[in-house]
Amino acid sequence: MSETRVICFANNKGGSGKSTTCSNVGYFLAESGKKTLLIDGDMQLNLSLAFFDEDRVLALAGGEKNLFNAIKKQDDLSDYVVSAGYENLDMIPSSTLMSSIEFELFSKWQREYILKKCLKNLRDSGKYDYILIDAPPTLGGWVMNILAASDFLIVPVEASPWGLFGLSNLFEFLSEASGIAPDLKIAGIAVTKVDGRKNYFKQTMETLKELPAHLFETYIHLDSNIEWAQDNSKPVGKYRRSSRSSKEYQLLTEEIERVCR
Ligand SMILES: Nc1ncnc2c1ncn2[C@@H]1O[C@H](COP(=O)(O)OP(=O)(O)OP(=O)(O)O)[C@@H](O)[C@H]1O
Ligand SMILES: [Mg+2]
Repeated sequence: MSETRVICFANNKGGSGKSTTCSNVGYFLAESGKKTLLIDGDMQLNLSLAFFDEDRVLALAGGEKNLFNAIKKQDDLSDYVVSAGYENLDMIPSSTLMSSIEFELFSKWQREYILKKCLKNLRDSGKYDYILIDAPPTLGGWVMNILAASDFLIVPVEASPWGLFGLSNLFEFLSEASGIAPDLKIAGIAVTKVDGRKNYFKQTMETLKELPAHLFETYIHLDSNIEWAQDNSKPVGKYRRSSRSSKEYQLLTEEIERVCR
Protein backbone atom coordinates (compact mmCIF):
# COMPACT_ATOMS: atom_id res chain seq x y z
CA MET A 1 0.00 0.00 0.00
CA SER A 2 1.48 3.34 -1.01
CA GLU A 3 1.45 6.44 1.13
CA THR A 4 -1.20 9.02 0.29
CA ARG A 5 0.08 12.53 -0.38
CA VAL A 6 -2.27 15.42 0.28
CA ILE A 7 -1.48 18.51 -1.81
CA CYS A 8 -3.37 21.79 -1.61
CA PHE A 9 -3.44 24.67 -4.09
CA ALA A 10 -3.76 27.99 -2.28
CA ASN A 11 -3.17 31.69 -2.83
CA ASN A 12 -5.35 34.46 -1.42
CA LYS A 13 -5.04 36.32 -4.73
CA GLY A 14 -8.14 35.56 -6.79
CA GLY A 15 -7.81 34.23 -10.32
CA SER A 16 -4.22 33.05 -9.90
CA GLY A 17 -4.95 29.65 -11.48
CA LYS A 18 -5.58 27.50 -8.39
CA SER A 19 -8.65 25.65 -9.72
CA THR A 20 -7.26 25.36 -13.25
CA THR A 21 -3.99 23.93 -11.95
CA CYS A 22 -5.64 21.60 -9.42
CA SER A 23 -8.04 20.17 -12.03
CA ASN A 24 -5.44 19.66 -14.77
CA VAL A 25 -2.75 18.25 -12.50
CA GLY A 26 -5.39 15.91 -11.04
CA TYR A 27 -6.36 14.74 -14.50
CA PHE A 28 -2.78 14.01 -15.55
CA LEU A 29 -2.01 12.20 -12.28
CA ALA A 30 -5.05 9.97 -12.84
CA GLU A 31 -4.17 9.44 -16.49
CA SER A 32 -0.72 8.22 -15.50
CA GLY A 33 -2.35 5.58 -13.30
CA LYS A 34 -2.25 7.35 -9.94
CA LYS A 35 -5.43 7.02 -7.90
CA THR A 36 -6.43 10.60 -7.30
CA LEU A 37 -9.12 12.35 -5.28
CA LEU A 38 -10.00 16.00 -5.90
CA ILE A 39 -11.61 18.03 -3.11
CA ASP A 40 -13.41 21.22 -4.10
CA GLY A 41 -12.89 23.52 -1.14
CA ASP A 42 -14.40 26.65 -2.67
CA MET A 43 -17.97 27.95 -2.79
CA GLN A 44 -17.36 29.08 -6.40
CA LEU A 45 -17.56 25.37 -7.38
CA ASN A 46 -14.88 25.84 -10.06
CA LEU A 47 -13.13 22.53 -9.49
CA SER A 48 -16.49 20.77 -9.76
CA LEU A 49 -17.29 22.75 -12.95
CA ALA A 50 -13.99 21.60 -14.45
CA PHE A 51 -15.46 18.07 -14.67
CA PHE A 52 -19.26 18.35 -14.57
CA ASP A 53 -21.78 20.51 -16.41
CA GLU A 54 -23.65 23.20 -14.51
CA ASP A 55 -26.79 21.14 -13.91
CA ARG A 56 -24.81 18.30 -12.36
CA VAL A 57 -22.68 20.68 -10.26
CA LEU A 58 -25.78 22.40 -8.90
CA ALA A 59 -27.45 19.06 -8.23
CA LEU A 60 -24.39 17.85 -6.31
CA ALA A 61 -24.08 21.16 -4.45
CA GLY A 62 -27.74 21.01 -3.46
CA GLY A 63 -27.62 17.32 -2.55
CA GLU A 64 -26.19 15.40 0.37
CA LYS A 65 -22.75 14.51 -0.97
CA ASN A 66 -20.86 17.74 -0.68
CA LEU A 67 -18.02 19.05 1.43
CA PHE A 68 -20.13 21.55 3.38
CA ASN A 69 -22.42 18.85 4.77
CA ALA A 70 -19.45 16.68 5.68
CA ILE A 71 -17.68 19.47 7.56
CA LYS A 72 -20.86 20.63 9.27
CA LYS A 73 -21.57 17.11 10.54
CA GLN A 74 -17.86 16.31 10.99
CA ASP A 75 -18.47 13.16 8.97
CA ASP A 76 -16.01 10.72 7.46
CA LEU A 77 -15.35 12.04 3.93
CA SER A 78 -15.26 8.47 2.54
CA ASP A 79 -19.05 8.72 2.27
CA TYR A 80 -18.92 11.84 0.09
CA VAL A 81 -16.86 10.63 -2.86
CA VAL A 82 -18.26 10.65 -6.41
CA SER A 83 -16.53 9.69 -9.66
CA ALA A 84 -15.08 12.61 -11.63
CA GLY A 85 -15.88 10.76 -14.85
CA TYR A 86 -12.38 9.41 -15.60
CA GLU A 87 -10.54 6.28 -14.55
CA ASN A 88 -8.63 6.74 -11.26
CA LEU A 89 -10.21 10.14 -10.66
CA ASP A 90 -12.73 10.87 -7.91
CA MET A 91 -14.08 14.07 -6.43
CA ILE A 92 -15.70 15.50 -3.35
CA PRO A 93 -17.87 18.33 -4.68
CA SER A 94 -18.41 21.67 -3.01
CA SER A 95 -21.51 23.67 -2.19
CA THR A 96 -22.37 27.37 -2.36
CA LEU A 97 -23.10 27.00 1.37
CA MET A 98 -19.32 26.96 1.82
CA SER A 99 -19.81 30.73 2.00
CA SER A 100 -20.78 30.20 5.66
CA ILE A 101 -18.04 27.69 6.48
CA GLU A 102 -16.16 30.14 8.74
CA PHE A 103 -19.32 30.52 10.82
CA GLU A 104 -19.74 26.72 11.03
CA LEU A 105 -16.16 26.26 12.17
CA PHE A 106 -16.27 29.04 14.73
CA SER A 107 -18.00 27.14 17.53
CA LYS A 108 -16.25 23.80 16.96
CA TRP A 109 -13.63 22.33 19.22
CA GLN A 110 -10.15 22.19 17.60
CA ARG A 111 -11.61 24.07 14.69
CA GLU A 112 -8.42 24.14 12.61
CA TYR A 113 -8.37 20.35 12.38
CA ILE A 114 -11.92 19.47 11.29
CA LEU A 115 -10.98 18.75 7.65
CA LYS A 116 -7.95 16.75 8.76
CA LYS A 117 -10.15 14.59 11.00
CA CYS A 118 -12.83 14.14 8.31
CA LEU A 119 -10.09 13.07 5.86
CA LYS A 120 -8.35 10.65 8.20
CA ASN A 121 -10.06 7.41 7.15
CA LEU A 122 -9.70 8.14 3.44
CA ARG A 123 -6.06 8.94 3.92
CA ASP A 124 -5.30 5.96 6.13
CA SER A 125 -7.13 3.58 3.77
CA GLY A 126 -4.33 4.10 1.22
CA LYS A 127 -6.98 4.06 -1.49
CA TYR A 128 -5.51 7.16 -3.13
CA ASP A 129 -1.99 8.02 -4.20
CA TYR A 130 -2.88 11.70 -4.25
CA ILE A 131 -5.55 13.87 -2.67
CA LEU A 132 -5.63 17.39 -4.18
CA ILE A 133 -7.50 20.22 -2.45
CA ASP A 134 -8.54 23.43 -4.22
CA ALA A 135 -8.62 26.35 -1.75
CA PRO A 136 -10.69 29.54 -2.04
CA PRO A 137 -9.00 32.95 -2.49
CA THR A 138 -9.00 33.80 1.22
CA LEU A 139 -6.77 33.45 4.27
CA GLY A 140 -8.79 32.43 7.29
CA GLY A 141 -9.93 29.53 9.41
CA TRP A 142 -11.07 27.40 6.48
CA VAL A 143 -7.84 27.80 4.54
CA MET A 144 -6.04 27.00 7.80
CA ASN A 145 -8.05 23.73 7.87
CA ILE A 146 -6.91 22.99 4.32
CA LEU A 147 -3.24 23.68 5.19
CA ALA A 148 -3.46 21.59 8.37
CA ALA A 149 -4.90 18.65 6.39
CA SER A 150 -2.18 18.81 3.69
CA ASP A 151 1.37 17.52 3.36
CA PHE A 152 2.29 19.92 0.57
CA LEU A 153 1.24 23.37 -0.61
CA ILE A 154 1.49 24.56 -4.20
CA VAL A 155 1.04 28.29 -4.76
CA PRO A 156 -0.17 29.13 -8.26
CA VAL A 157 0.88 32.70 -9.12
CA GLU A 158 -0.33 34.70 -12.07
CA ALA A 159 2.58 36.31 -13.90
CA SER A 160 1.40 39.92 -13.53
CA PRO A 161 2.13 42.88 -11.23
CA TRP A 162 -1.09 42.39 -9.28
CA GLY A 163 -0.49 38.65 -9.21
CA LEU A 164 2.68 39.31 -7.24
CA PHE A 165 1.19 41.95 -4.97
CA GLY A 166 0.20 40.41 -1.66
CA LEU A 167 2.42 37.35 -1.96
CA SER A 168 4.42 38.55 1.03
CA ASN A 169 1.15 38.51 3.08
CA LEU A 170 0.64 34.93 2.03
CA PHE A 171 4.13 33.95 3.18
CA GLU A 172 3.59 35.78 6.49
CA PHE A 173 0.33 33.87 6.97
CA LEU A 174 2.17 30.64 6.17
CA SER A 175 4.83 31.26 8.78
CA GLU A 176 2.05 31.88 11.33
CA ALA A 177 0.29 28.74 10.10
CA SER A 178 3.38 26.64 10.79
CA GLY A 179 2.31 26.37 14.44
CA ILE A 180 -0.96 24.79 13.38
CA ALA A 181 0.36 22.87 10.38
CA PRO A 182 3.94 22.04 11.43
CA ASP A 183 4.34 19.23 8.87
CA LEU A 184 3.19 21.24 5.85
CA LYS A 185 5.89 21.66 3.21
CA ILE A 186 5.76 24.42 0.59
CA ALA A 187 6.31 22.37 -2.56
CA GLY A 188 6.65 25.47 -4.70
CA ILE A 189 5.28 28.29 -6.75
CA ALA A 190 3.68 27.40 -10.09
CA VAL A 191 3.70 30.35 -12.47
CA THR A 192 0.51 30.55 -14.54
CA LYS A 193 -1.07 32.66 -17.27
CA VAL A 194 2.30 33.68 -18.70
CA ASP A 195 2.16 35.99 -21.70
CA GLY A 196 5.46 35.24 -23.42
CA ARG A 197 5.19 38.40 -25.54
CA LYS A 198 5.56 40.68 -22.55
CA ASN A 199 8.91 41.85 -21.18
CA TYR A 200 7.26 42.09 -17.82
CA PHE A 201 7.61 38.34 -17.43
CA LYS A 202 11.38 38.64 -16.80
CA GLN A 203 10.76 41.04 -13.94
CA THR A 204 8.10 38.71 -12.53
CA MET A 205 10.59 35.88 -12.41
CA GLU A 206 13.25 38.03 -10.71
CA THR A 207 10.72 38.94 -7.99
CA LEU A 208 9.58 35.35 -7.52
CA LYS A 209 13.14 34.07 -7.19
CA GLU A 210 13.52 36.19 -4.05
CA LEU A 211 10.69 34.38 -2.26
CA PRO A 212 11.47 31.59 0.20
CA ALA A 213 10.04 28.85 -2.02
CA HIS A 214 11.01 26.56 -4.88
CA LEU A 215 9.91 27.74 -8.33
CA PHE A 216 8.57 25.01 -10.57
CA GLU A 217 10.48 24.99 -13.86
CA THR A 218 7.38 24.50 -15.99
CA TYR A 219 5.37 27.68 -16.55
CA ILE A 220 1.82 27.63 -17.85
CA HIS A 221 1.31 30.07 -20.70
CA LEU A 222 -1.91 31.88 -21.50
CA ASP A 223 -3.89 29.60 -23.77
CA SER A 224 -7.50 30.04 -24.84
CA ASN A 225 -7.81 26.24 -24.96
CA ILE A 226 -7.95 26.37 -21.15
CA GLU A 227 -11.12 28.44 -21.33
CA TRP A 228 -12.65 26.30 -24.09
CA ALA A 229 -11.87 23.17 -22.11
CA GLN A 230 -13.52 24.63 -19.00
CA ASP A 231 -16.52 25.70 -21.08
CA ASN A 232 -16.83 22.02 -22.05
CA SER A 233 -16.30 20.77 -18.47
CA LYS A 234 -13.15 18.94 -19.53
CA PRO A 235 -9.49 19.03 -18.53
CA VAL A 236 -7.38 20.53 -21.31
CA GLY A 237 -5.53 17.22 -21.78
CA LYS A 238 -8.85 15.70 -22.80
CA TYR A 239 -10.21 18.70 -24.69
CA ARG A 240 -7.15 19.52 -26.84
CA ARG A 241 -4.25 17.20 -26.34
CA SER A 242 -2.02 19.01 -28.82
CA SER A 243 -2.36 22.40 -27.08
CA ARG A 244 0.54 24.13 -25.40
CA SER A 245 -1.20 24.25 -22.01
CA SER A 246 -1.97 20.51 -22.15
CA LYS A 247 1.73 19.75 -22.67
CA GLU A 248 2.73 22.22 -19.96
CA TYR A 249 0.29 20.81 -17.43
CA GLN A 250 1.54 17.31 -18.16
CA LEU A 251 5.14 18.44 -17.53
CA LEU A 252 4.14 20.35 -14.39
CA THR A 253 2.38 17.22 -13.09
CA GLU A 254 5.58 15.18 -13.57
CA GLU A 255 7.54 17.87 -11.76
CA ILE A 256 5.03 17.94 -8.89
CA GLU A 257 5.35 14.16 -8.55
CA ARG A 258 9.13 14.49 -8.25
CA VAL A 259 8.92 17.28 -5.66
CA CYS A 260 6.04 15.93 -3.53
CA ARG A 261 7.67 12.69 -2.39
N1 LIG B 1 -3.24 29.28 -18.76
C1 LIG B 1 -4.38 29.95 -18.87
N2 LIG B 1 -4.72 30.52 -20.06
C2 LIG B 1 -5.88 31.21 -20.18
N3 LIG B 1 -6.77 31.39 -19.19
C3 LIG B 1 -6.48 30.84 -17.99
C4 LIG B 1 -5.29 30.10 -17.77
N4 LIG B 1 -5.29 29.67 -16.48
C5 LIG B 1 -6.44 30.13 -15.93
N5 LIG B 1 -7.14 30.83 -16.83
C6 LIG B 1 -8.41 31.52 -16.59
O1 LIG B 1 -8.20 32.46 -15.56
C7 LIG B 1 -9.31 32.49 -14.69
C8 LIG B 1 -8.84 32.22 -13.27
O2 LIG B 1 -8.35 30.89 -13.19
P1 LIG B 1 -8.73 29.96 -11.96
O3 LIG B 1 -10.21 29.97 -11.74
O4 LIG B 1 -8.06 28.67 -12.14
O5 LIG B 1 -8.03 30.78 -10.77
P2 LIG B 1 -8.29 30.61 -9.22
O6 LIG B 1 -7.05 31.03 -8.55
O7 LIG B 1 -8.82 29.28 -8.93
O8 LIG B 1 -9.43 31.69 -8.98
P3 LIG B 1 -10.20 31.94 -7.58
O9 LIG B 1 -9.24 32.68 -6.74
O10 LIG B 1 -11.39 32.76 -7.98
O11 LIG B 1 -10.55 30.61 -7.03
C9 LIG B 1 -10.32 31.49 -15.21
O12 LIG B 1 -11.29 32.17 -15.96
C10 LIG B 1 -9.51 30.59 -16.11
O13 LIG B 1 -10.26 30.14 -17.21
MG1 LIG C 1 -10.52 28.77 -7.81
